[in-house]
Amino acid sequence: MALWGGRFTQAADQRFKDFNDSLRFDYRLAEQDIEGSIGWSKALVKVGVLSPQEQQQLEQALELLLIEVRSNPQAILQDDAEDIHSWVESKLIDKVGNLGKKLHTGRSRNDQVAVDIKMWCKQQVTELQYCIRQLQAKLVKTAENNQHAVMPGYTHLQRAQPISFAHWCMAYVEMLERDYSRLSDAYQRMNSCPLGSGALAGTAYAIDREQLAQDLGFARATRNSLDSVSDRDHIVELLSAASLSMVHLSRFAEDMIIFNSGEADFVELSDLVTSGSSLMPQKKNPDACELIRGKTGRVIGALNAMMITLKGLPLAYNKDMQEDKEGIFDALDTWHDCLTMAAFVLEDIRVNVERTREAALKGYSNATELADYLVAKGVPFRDSHHIVGETVVYAIKVHKGLEDLSLAEFRQFSDVVAEDVYDILLLQSCLDKRCAKGGVSPLRVAEAISEAKQRIGLK
Ligand code: ARG
Repeated sequence: MALWGGRFTQAADQRFKDFNDSLRFDYRLAEQDIEGSIGWSKALVKVGVLSPQEQQQLEQALELLLIEVRSNPQAILQDDAEDIHSWVESKLIDKVGNLGKKLHTGRSRNDQVAVDIKMWCKQQVTELQYCIRQLQAKLVKTAENNQHAVMPGYTHLQRAQPISFAHWCMAYVEMLERDYSRLSDAYQRMNSCPLGSGALAGTAYAIDREQLAQDLGFARATRNSLDSVSDRDHIVELLSAASLSMVHLSRFAEDMIIFNSGEADFVELSDLVTSGSSLMPQKKNPDACELIRGKTGRVIGALNAMMITLKGLPLAYNKDMQEDKEGIFDALDTWHDCLTMAAFVLEDIRVNVERTREAALKGYSNATELADYLVAKGVPFRDSHHIVGETVVYAIKVHKGLEDLSLAEFRQFSDVVAEDVYDILLLQSCLDKRCAKGGVSPLRVAEAISEAKQRIGLK
């Protein structure tokens, strides 16, 4: 029987029920709903609705239900309750009889669903932060193992200046650090308890809401009942943090796909995360990375969907808000899976150092070095830029690298070039010179690695 039978003379049409019911997805809030209910039962003792004995009886039954739910959450799906809140209430009544019917005193499903989803979100933040740290740890380890793998760095996907594979890894550690801190920020804001806001106007019982908030692990109680039941900012914020992080993961995946291509051949992805073609026997496709890139779309889609759903909703609760769940569940599951998969991609990766070095040597990625060299010899940078440009045109024509030009060839363009030019054109020198904070010099990269290890608590 539905929770609201009294007002109705007819049962709802099955077609409406199928459309309206949310149990098939909100069953995932079972644990939170039970914990929230235990908290609420305690609050009801203090306002004289429940005796301490009654509360204990309810709490024991709810604890039992919690154990059942944890051992088999999917079993809930067999029931035809409207949503998880009615399911928990009906199971409680099954266990303790009429006493179970007292629990909903002073509470509404509106503040109930609000507290459930917030508790769930808070738990997810902790879990996702853990996954971010795991991926960062993998990146730092990969960086540590590849400090001497020189490769071309790109702008416009044109070889620009040499970098190391380690420096590339550490760039993603930084992005993930911001993702991590976005979750921390969002956590602070979502850490307020809406329970005790009633349907919209507040509860008619003198509930100590700060105590209730504390009992449920929140830092404080929300301040306005209307806002409490209408607020889904925490969902939007998590979807937004997820979307941006997915953008980072997608760029990581795309870099990997390029590095793994036959053209680049910089890395070889392990058999564990690639798949073959049904037709072309030679192929080894970077599916894991492609899926990370591809799944970014649905996470961003969930963010859009949520914002569009909320836009224009009048205060306070509207059933539209039930649409928050499938999106956030799917998006956070997807983000979680992609973080885990990205770490897995790095597990067994092989960097082809001969090939990355060879590519770094090509493409005139030491041209900036030559310009800086001329500057050191007194040529103004704008002129040296021009001179080097002409030198590169010449080198391309004669199919040589800059380091392969003879002194006589260099001097066609500038007579300040001397024998010492060859040292500065070496890849190693290109790296070593970039020693200001954040640069690619091996010293700086080693520092960045050890700082990151400290930050993320890695030995
Ligand atoms: N299933 C609903 C949701 O997810 C729970 C709240 C229902 N409240 C109500 N007044 N019908 O939003």
